[in-house]
Amino acid sequence: MYIATYTASANIAVVKYWGKRNEELILPYNNSLSFTMDDNLQTITTVMFSEKFSQDELWLNGKKMDLQKGKKSHVLPVDLLRKKADIDLPVRIVSKNCFPTGAGFASSASGVAALVCATSKALNLTLSGKELSMLARQGSGSASRSVYGGFVEWLKGDLEDGTDSFAQQIAPHDHWPELRNVIAVVETEEKKVSSRHGMKTTTLTSALYEKRLQYLEGVIPKMKEAVLQKDFATFAELTMRESNSMHASMLDTWPPIMYLSDGSREVIYMVEDLNAELGKTVAGYTFDAGPNAHIYTTEEYESVIKERLEKIAHVKNIEVCKVGQGPQQISDEAQFL
Ligand code: ADP
Ligand code: DP6
Ligand code: CO
Repeated sequence: MYIATYTASANIAVVKYWGKRNEELILPYNNSLSFTMDDNLQTITTVMFSEKFSQDELWLNGKKMDLQKGKKSHVLPVDLLRKKADIDLPVRIVSKNCFPTGAGFASSASGVAALVCATSKALNLTLSGKELSMLARQGSGSASRSVYGGFVEWLKGDLEDGTDSFAQQIAPHDHWPELRNVIAVVETEEKKVSSRHGMKTTTLTSALYEKRLQYLEGVIPKMKEAVLQKDFATFAELTMRESNSMHASMLDTWPPIMYLSDGSREVIYMVEDLNAELGKTVAGYTFDAGPNAHIYTTEEYESVIKERLEKIAHVKNIEVCKVGQGPQQISDEAQFL
């Protein structure tokens, strides 16, 4: 039996990936930037290979999932790793997300990153961060960034074989210890339009999409500089505008994609009002492919943001994340406790 267990955390992008130039290899149109979160947005995955298993199985959050052979799926990196290790045994994957799956909390990022790290360890492969990132990319684009902790950039690359499209750490998890991500949960149901399907229709139909790509070219260096300098006001403003740009291109998609809900909009107004009231930018919202708000702020303003969120009826729950360290190997028993 080959076995290993890993945890990995979701990452919340501040320059987001929304569109593939190559669907097969998962190559994006733009570089993206994110912070990997701590264990409040965590997946724990055990991967086992054994001749005793009759077929491949994936158990996600206690339910057996359908693994259609040959279908492009989030678990494709397991096949790639099995070939690399030259071990042709059936696999059993047991995974749980400690937060809602498919609801805009980037479960595909933490899920696939944990899967790649556990599989490579179980198969006794010693791979570099770059190799792990490229493998995770092929399961879910955003997962390429979750193989690292801290502040991470996924390079889009220029080559058509994908060998120059991988993520790298720009700053470690303790670079900006005061940074917080306050999550306002407004909906935990699985989204109707998956990220994979949604971004495909945006690239095919949105006229705004090309403008967004031009806009991002200018944003990326400014965002990196703001994070490295810990210039919160610039960072937060760029973050909000980038999220709005992505959601504008989603609305401009045909048929339109609307991930934001009334609850999301109330959070946007709350952040706008708070920043205006204090006369400085102390909070910046961003939304992934879902209605739940991620408010970047600093430790100092965490409690005032929580107080304001508690007054919004649509907000069902509030979680606070710090920047996390990235994937960790843990004991196999931990999965089953
Ligand atoms: P999210 O916003 O949660 O990332 P996506 O639409 O991108 O939503 O992806 C959700 C899909 O990711 C799930 O339907 C499942 O196929 C895959 N996924 C989520 N969690 C895991 C996991 N722990 N292990 C393997 N695959 C996962
Ligand atoms: C809005 O990585 O989930 O969260 O590559 O098809 O699996 P696939 O999509 P996915 O898309 C993430 C979209 C996003 C932005 C981001 O995380 O950069
Ligand atoms: Co996802």
